[in-house]
Amino acid sequence: MILQGDCIEVLSQIEDETVDLAYADPPYNLQLKNPLKRPDGTTYENLVDTDWDRFSSLDVYEEFTKQWLTQVRRVMKRKSSLWVSCTYHCSFIIGYTLMKLNFEILNHIVWIKDNPTPNFSGTRFCQSHESLIWCKKKGGTHYFNYQFLKKENNNKQPRAEWYLPGPSQLQKEKIVVNGKRINAAQKPSSLLYKVIVSSSKEGDLVLDPFMGIGTTGLVCQRLKREFLGIERDIEQVKIAKQRLESGMIPIFY
Ligand SMILES: C[S@@+](CC[C@H](N)C(=O)[O-])C[C@H]1O[C@@H](n2cnc3c(N)ncnc32)[C@H](O)[C@@H]1O
Repeated sequence: MILQGDCIEVLSQIEDETVDLAYADPPYNLQLKNPLKRPDGTTYENLVDTDWDRFSSLDVYEEFTKQWLTQVRRVMKRKSSLWVSCTYHCSFIIGYTLMKLNFEILNHIVWIKDNPTPNFSGTRFCQSHESLIWCKKKGGTHYFNYQFLKKENNNKQPRAEWYLPGPSQLQKEKIVVNGKRINAAQKPSSLLYKVIVSSSKEGDLVLDPFMGIGTTGLVCQRLKREFLGIERDIEQVKIAKQRLESGMIPIFY
């Protein structure tokens, strides 16, 4: 099911302890002010420079983080877990807020990308990974599909660094309208595959409060999980519905 609206408001209408798993890919508060230029002067287009990522101050972003995490925590069952996708711009605030809200961190996953945005100015390291914080309610329990993951990993213990290509490598997945990516933060299905397969079972209800163009929903459909996606932007909702109805098969690596 897809619900259009602000996730804090929409979640406030949902009963306590409803979802088995939550995955969130929230605004990052990148604070980008100017276009990013390549050394040859051309503009790099694949940036998250949209209105949904703009907050007037760090305090406003922190308060927003606290509010949506409070609502997500409330609708999570006692036996459930939450994943939050982060960049270095927001992972510290999100991690701190999670701890303040009585979540227990289970893992800090490092997603190593083979096609990171270059550091065009050569003034710092190329930021070639993003992270995911995996956590549960303190005092609650969580599901971990350990034996399956171990088997998938040549019988070795699954590790917290994931080597996965970004969606721009996966031409079939990248959703482009009029030459521009419809959501510059679109996540690859392979990332959601690992999240969902690790921490949920068939038939479980998976919440994504920042659904974007519905990557989580597409993977849930394929893995026979129920899906509850929330998204504020009507255009993103439209594309997400089209993707879910098209029978598009997500690519897992
Ligand atoms: C990082 S993107 C998610 C991309 C998604 N994982 C995908 O693969 O398509 C964040 C999304 O959250 C939406 N958003 C931002 N603030 C929101 C809010 N308060 N409530 C609901 N959606 C919101 C934005 O419109 C954007 O589509």
